[in-house]
Amino acid sequence: MKKLLITRVIAPSVIADAKARFDVTVRQTGAGMTLDEAAEALASYDAILPTLGDDFSADAFARAGAPRCKVLANFGVGYNHIDAAAAKAAGVAVSNTPDVLTDATADIGMTLLLTAARRTGEGERMVRAGKWKGWGPGGIMGTHVSGKTVGIVGMGRIGQAVARRCHHGFGMPVLFYNRSPKTVDVPARQVADLAEMLGAVDFVVVTVPGGAQTRNLIDAAAFRAMKPSAIFVNIARGEVVDEAALIEALRSGQIAAAGLDVFVNEPDVPLALREMENTVVVPHLGSATAETREAMGRMALDNVIAWAEGRPLPQAV
Ligand code: NAP
Ligand code: GLV
Repeated sequence: MKKLLITRVIAPSVIADAKARFDVTVRQTGAGMTLDEAAEALASYDAILPTLGDDFSADAFARAGAPRCKVLANFGVGYNHIDAAAAKAAGVAVSNTPDVLTDATADIGMTLLLTAARRTGEGERMVRAGKWKGWGPGGIMGTHVSGKTVGIVGMGRIGQAVARRCHHGFGMPVLFYNRSPKTVDVPARQVADLAEMLGAVDFVVVTVPGGAQTRNLIDAAAFRAMKPSAIFVNIARGEVVDEAALIEALRSGQIAAAGLDVFVNEPDVPLALREMENTVVVPHLGSATAETREAMGRMALDNVIAWAEGRPLPQAV
């Protein structure tokens, strides 16, 4: 039986199916794999089902030499924690889990957008603290969402799902910035210049992949380009945003608020972002529904099975 390492506890039904076909080890800790652990796993297992936070960088492949492992079936669509070029050079195939998490992640994007706009986090904290003095025409005043313009950075599967929600649900005009020209099934205008788009919208939602190409794509200049009333949402990867510049933009009033699912050094979230009232911070919940996480596990396992049966990986990256 081939040896399969599953690097986190995933849906029991998926683990049971994996055990029926492979000699399975399930890592019991919630922490990501260190470089040493990743290198050791590459040398010791035939197949690995890793996830974000596991350090499959070029160094891990270099340390592993000629790895025993032949497939990394990632649990998650984003695979910026895996050096895909180094994996290929080492003869390790890589797959991911697109589509099955698109709706859940877009829903978290809308949750953050609405929560930041309507200040419901602040309101909830006030009620829980017993500080609410009753309804009045003043008090916590939010920003209207319906009819406002949204700008999407990265118009892929998740970006388009956010666009559909904004257009059909909230009557919002949609602008987007994307690496390559894109035709989409919702009324939306592509803007070639990022700063121009950022300056034209009320809400910014970031949905590009992480990695070297997009690191700090949203930097101090990008925040300067936004309206002072802009609400910024990141459901992509923390590293896409210069976090220090974001904190400064929020502090100085360069932008109005931010809704954040992802951070540079997860699970560490800068104290400034946790303390400000105009931030909504959630712990990387994008795909976190039971249904979605089960579907992700099943898709990742299907890729391991395809490899074991000598078939092409259905979701090869
Ligand atoms: P996708 O379909 O591949 O979409 C990515 C889009 O970003 C593509 O349209 C791509 O353009 C564009 N893009 C790539 N690099 C760019 C750049 N430098 N500048 C502008 N646009 C660029 O991926 P997806 O399924 O929507 O997922 C997107 C990312 O969301 C994932 O990679 C992951 O990091 C993140 N994510 C987060 C969560 C969460 O829990 N918060 C959950 C799922 C995914 P092209 O058309 O040129 O390829
Ligand atoms: C989660 O962040 C993913 O990339 O699937």
